Amino acid sequence: MSQLGATKSGFILCVCVCIILFTFSGVKDLDEQKQYSPEIKECGFYPGELCTAIFEGKSAALTVGNVCQRSFPPSRDNGPVFLQTTTNCSLIIQNLNIITEPLSVEEADYPLAYIITIHKKLDMFVKLLRAIYAPQNIYCIHIDKKSSKIYSRTVRKLASCFSNIIVSSKQETVVYAGFSRLQADVNCMEDLADSENPWKHVINLCGQDFPIRTNREIVRYLKTQWNGRNLTPGVIQPSHMKYRTSLSYREFEHMGKAYVSPTATEKSGPPNNITIFFGTAYYALTRDFVRFVRSDKRAKDLLKWSRDTYSPDEHYWVTLNRLKDAPGSTPDAQWEGNIRAVKWKDQEGTSHTGCSGHYVRDICIYGLGDLQWIIESPHLFANKFDPGVYPLVTDCLERHYRLKVLAQAEVALDPNWYLQDNYTKKGTST
Ligand SMILES: *[C@@H]1O[C@H](CO)[C@@H](O)[C@H](O)[C@H]1NC(C)=O
Ligand SMILES: *[C@@H]1O[C@H](CO)[C@@H](O)[C@H](O)[C@H]1NC(C)=O
Repeated sequence: MSQLGATKSGFILCVCVCIILFTFSGVKDLDEQKQYSPEIKECGFYPGELCTAIFEGKSAALTVGNVCQRSFPPSRDNGPVFLQTTTNCSLIIQNLNIITEPLSVEEADYPLAYIITIHKKLDMFVKLLRAIYAPQNIYCIHIDKKSSKIYSRTVRKLASCFSNIIVSSKQETVVYAGFSRLQADVNCMEDLADSENPWKHVINLCGQDFPIRTNREIVRYLKTQWNGRNLTPGVIQPSHMKYRTSLSYREFEHMGKAYVSPTATEKSGPPNNITIFFGTAYYALTRDFVRFVRSDKRAKDLLKWSRDTYSPDEHYWVTLNRLKDAPGSTPDAQWEGNIRAVKWKDQEGTSHTGCSGHYVRDICIYGLGDLQWIIESPHLFANKFDPGVYPLVTDCLERHYRLKVLAQAEVALDPNWYLQDNYTKKGTST
């Protein structure tokens, strides 16, 4: 009840702020106001129209949205309440508006595998999962060993409702830029390689990603642009990245926080005289390539050698995929491939015009003003999101995304596949 009260007073506060805001913005943004005069009530619970106006880049809508989202109930680290209180899978599937059928023959014939590494902010993971979920695909979730018990339990319960969602059988404590991040992917890959699902490409994601392209668009892109090949954007290791593999790194702990740091020990050159590349940690790999990585001596030696390097996930996949004889390899590829939309701080002014949210480790946490850029991006996924800080960003994006998915479907639509309401708010107020 007190939460309901808090939600209501937040709503009232929001209405007040919005009224004040409109009084002033009316003077400043007369032209915008003519095009878009949002209803105050949208500020609270169902921001559909507000989202549309924001996607169109209307500045009045952006201003309103930025004020409104501060009054949203905070995003829950342990996910929507009903996920914790019920074990009824049909109820969970219904409440999450899960799409329960393949939406076209083309998609049914091209199943994808996903590896998702997560450790906190279950709300975002649930949004991601219900966006990318398709019954013909398979999903391996790596839950960080340092995740809380309730977090881990909730993810396992959610996974148990689906025969095609598995939790990685081996768990790592993932340290930023450490080998554990790569090991987590490898663990899931083992589980996926053994699965009976006939998946064609495996894609890896983290808990702060969200799709831009639909499952159908991803399938088409991989089938036509990367037919039987692996997508690993990257180049020969540039000299300013050599520090990552020339010294031996190890994990340290300071005040309960683990981090990776160099030691004084110099590393020997890479095994088998392999040329080290540098690229993104995000990929789309074929099943044959995964088989190769599990069995080839060079792949195994490189994995071993990478244990004490800095951020090995940014060299491992791309290095192996530049080997001429690896299945589906792209020896001459560089940065091409639309795997991830990221606003890097050092690319401000070149690939984007700035971050409307804020930067964390030089990567933009998207704000409302970034939405238009995101949906116009050619990439498959965007990174990074934090509904704890910018709840309206993910709300707007998932609504927009779901409508696009359903518009492309070739089967009869189940009314429950439409996102009727925001489950976070529904969950918070009941
Ligand atoms: C589970 O939820 C569904 C859908 O809301 C409902 O029809 C069914 O009765 C529930 N089952 C149990 C055992 O409570
Ligand atoms: C290692 O590779 C380099 C360049 O790729 C080549 O010049 C050199 O001869 C190779 N060394 C051995 C021992 O194969």
